[in-house]
Amino acid sequence: MHDRQVALVTGANKGIGLEVARQLGKRGMTALLGARDAERGKAAALRLREDGVDARFVRLDVTDGATIDAAARWIEAELGRLDVLVNNAGIALDMHKPSECNLDEVRQIYEVNVLGVVAITKAMLPLLRRAAPHARIVNVTSGLGSLTLNTDPSWEHGGVNVIGYTSSKAALNMVTVQLAKELRGTGIKVNAADPGYTATDLNNNTGTQTVAEGAESTVTLATLGDDGPTGGYFDRRGRVPW
Ligand SMILES: NC(=O)c1ccc[n+]([C@@H]2O[C@H](COP(=O)([O-])OP(=O)(O)OC[C@H]3O[C@@H](n4cnc5c(N)ncnc54)[C@H](OP(=O)(O)O)[C@@H]3O)[C@@H](O)[C@H]2O)c1
Repeated sequence: MHDRQVALVTGANKGIGLEVARQLGKRGMTALLGARDAERGKAAALRLREDGVDARFVRLDVTDGATIDAAARWIEAELGRLDVLVNNAGIALDMHKPSECNLDEVRQIYEVNVLGVVAITKAMLPLLRRAAPHARIVNVTSGLGSLTLNTDPSWEHGGVNVIGYTSSKAALNMVTVQLAKELRGTGIKVNAADPGYTATDLNNNTGTQTVAEGAESTVTLATLGDDGPTGGYFDRRGRVPW
């Protein structure tokens, strides 16, 4: 079996995912960079290796079950372990107001942001269970998935009024809670991380935080001690209201 802890990060070829992989790698883990595009994924892994991280590219399109199964088999055969799963891949697409939403785009958002997470987690759980009680699962959600914040007219992002992205992240929050409930007896912790508004391609780099700041909550939850929380929703400052 591979001697270092192994972390798989989906959508890790750029943005917050790449930075999470870099930071986990800097902590001594082998960082598996999941990416749907081989060229982009290999280039990202090379960048991290040049930065001293044991980084490896894994082809992974979270909407394609064949790549998910192949990735699980490859991790099992090559490394024989998986300690951390970061479900980071996400898309925003449809940014129209609810009455004008594009249903095809809303479906695509759900495929990636919700069903993709469910599929990857199911496929990786047998490996993660072997790393129990130390295994960690982090679902990268958003403050835009909070029902409480979205119903507060004074919230700084209260002007956002879209159906696809926001409801997909609210659904992901519930996926997190249900999974954490099932795994409570195993020691495996499952939490939702809100990166905060971070400059990446997702928002045409309009975010006000750096990717290092955006990665913080996810890295904290991926490296929780055994006394850490499970089934929670956190940004880098602390708990986020559901
Ligand atoms: N940036 C923010 O302000 C912010 C705030 C709250 C939450 N988030 C969340 O943080 C996560 C990372 O977002 P980001 O800001 O870093 O965005 P980003 O720079 O656009 O990165 C998104 C990543 O997801 C990948 N991806 C998209 N669809 C995929 C699929 N079907 N299979 C595999 N990978 C796929 C992308 O790959 P390609 O390069 O191939 O497209 C890319 O690597 C997302 O879940 C997002 O919702 C971001």
